[in-house]
Amino acid sequence: MKRGALITLEGIEGSGKSGHLKLLAQFLQSQGFPIRVTYEPGATALGRSLRELLLHGEGLIEDPLVELFLFLSDRREHVRLVVKPLLLEGKVVLCDRYVDSTLAYQGFGRGLDLDFLLRANRLVTEGIWPDLTILLDCPPEEGLRRAKGEDRLHRQPLEFHRRVREGYLELARREPERIKVVSTSGCPKEEAQEEIRSIVLEFLRRWPRET
Ligand code: TMP
Repeated sequence: MKRGALITLEGIEGSGKSGHLKLLAQFLQSQGFPIRVTYEPGATALGRSLRELLLHGEGLIEDPLVELFLFLSDRREHVRLVVKPLLLEGKVVLCDRYVDSTLAYQGFGRGLDLDFLLRANRLVTEGIWPDLTILLDCPPEEGLRRAKGEDRLHRQPLEFHRRVREGYLELARREPERIKVVSTSGCPKEEAQEEIRSIVLEFLRRWPRET
């Protein structure tokens, strides 16, 4: 079966993910690639309510497992209704956060078992895994200063954000072929964007492909 490509962007709060994703999408579109942009959590009707709960449900979500299952419910809907259909149409899907967010935040951040999280992710995604992941990296102090918004996860202690960042870097060490780290700290935005574009173009040169 021929299918599209799934490219995910990951990183801690304020790492520059969403801005870079927008620039990248515009660039790839101008190069003629069939790009679709999506995000987690919140890209479906149910997902919008889940996002509201997850980011602003102050005092409601106290248990890491409850938080986990809400993110997984959002992912399940997203894959079923958005990601899978787009991939079957042969689109290049650019997704702001996906499976690695759960591994980094709920795994390394909250301390939930990584093997269990991997299995749960495989289940809700039907094994639809990112073909390429760009991890935007910066120190949490810098990211939190830069990040807009004041949501529930943003307000976690600095130590939590440090674990998430280290977790992401550990995931990248484990899967260097899939996860490419781009630093967004101490360099102009244009420089990081250039690096992202060249990684993605290099990947897309080998696409479309038969799977
Ligand atoms: P964002 O969409 O503005 O990046 O916010 C989403 C927040 O949710 C962010 O703090 C990361 C967090 N998150 C998780 O903790 N686990 C997940 O699986 C996902 C998708 C996001």
